[in-house]
Amino acid sequence: EKAGYDHFMLKEIHEQPTAIQKTFAGKLMELEGTIKMDELYLTPEQIKHLRRATIIACGTSWNAGILGKYLFEKLAGIHTDIETASEFRYGNPVLCGEELTIAITQSGETADTLAAVRSSQSYGCRTVAITNVVGSTITRESSSVVYTRAGPEIGVAATKTFTAQLITLYMLAIYLGRVRGVLSAEEAKNLIVNIKRLPGQIQKILNRKDKIKECAEQFADKRDYFFIGRYLNFPIALEGALKLKEISYIHAEGYAAGELKHGPLALLTDETPVVAIATKGHTYDKILSNIKEVKARDATVIAVANEDDTEIEKYVDEVLRIPQSHEMTAPILTSVVLQLLAYYTALANDCSIDKPRNLAKSVTVE
Ligand code: F6R
Repeated sequence: EKAGYDHFMLKEIHEQPTAIQKTFAGKLMELEGTIKMDELYLTPEQIKHLRRATIIACGTSWNAGILGKYLFEKLAGIHTDIETASEFRYGNPVLCGEELTIAITQSGETADTLAAVRSSQSYGCRTVAITNVVGSTITRESSSVVYTRAGPEIGVAATKTFTAQLITLYMLAIYLGRVRGVLSAEEAKNLIVNIKRLPGQIQKILNRKDKIKECAEQFADKRDYFFIGRYLNFPIALEGALKLKEISYIHAEGYAAGELKHGPLALLTDETPVVAIATKGHTYDKILSNIKEVKARDATVIAVANEDDTEIEKYVDEVLRIPQSHEMTAPILTSVVLQLLAYYTALANDCSIDKPRNLAKSVTVE
């Protein structure tokens, strides 16, 4: 049932090229420059009048939601808040009913997320659920459901469902952006072309996973890790850290790279590897200066960078590569690299990868 892989997690990481193909199958309308989103029960008028969106989720799905916020704001011009379900529930949300609530939950059964959705509906908000499980509780409680179609995920650590959530958020943002007239057909086409390239690019990363394994083994005895990124790479840094702590029991923190100097720099020594997401984009120079700050404290830096970036080697100890890609879609590729880094670190530490201690696949307690 593991199809020759040692763990479900490794199998599910390898399923990503086909899993995300299923996520976007039949939805990418490249010629027209838009997305087919028939499952969204919102009229074009309602979409144009949306004043705000609130994304609610937990854990890995919450990390996906942070990227979703950036996408909705950039591609669809919708002010978007992102909250963990357990905070949203007990906070004081100010909602007037012209907002869209987007709940992201792989299992569709997370108790806090379900309760937060009910609470937002009590204000009259329309809710869209993004889930992987057909017929799960969330699907019965939301106005619209967009399925991620990644196939069943057995490993407790979310991998293919995370990248499928990201793809779904890109598609939703493009669709809303087109209807609202914020995104041009040309820009949408360009994004769609780049989304279509992802399965092949992920396959390339998987084919070269030995390099990631070597790197993981080299630092597997360290007890504290940092993951840093900016903008779209910030939620990917959070997710990289979550994956590592969850399956390898190594303390890891994900940080917005610009925040390091506001406290955490004090923790850096030659015993704390820092994984810096330094793929090409408009924050590249800024992350390079963060890398220099980190190196000045003797920390080891493992950079995730583009294939053709020869400059980065001058500043860091190890480079893990992603294929050439658009700034907007590169975070999906980086996610796969960080999943493999966590997997091989846990393997080197002989951890129970598919069933980490204290964790459950579906969190139905509050
Ligand atoms: C981490 C992980 C968890 C879940 C979280 C929410 O790998 O899987 O953090 O993401 O428990 O679960 P769902 O998405 O089912 O609501």
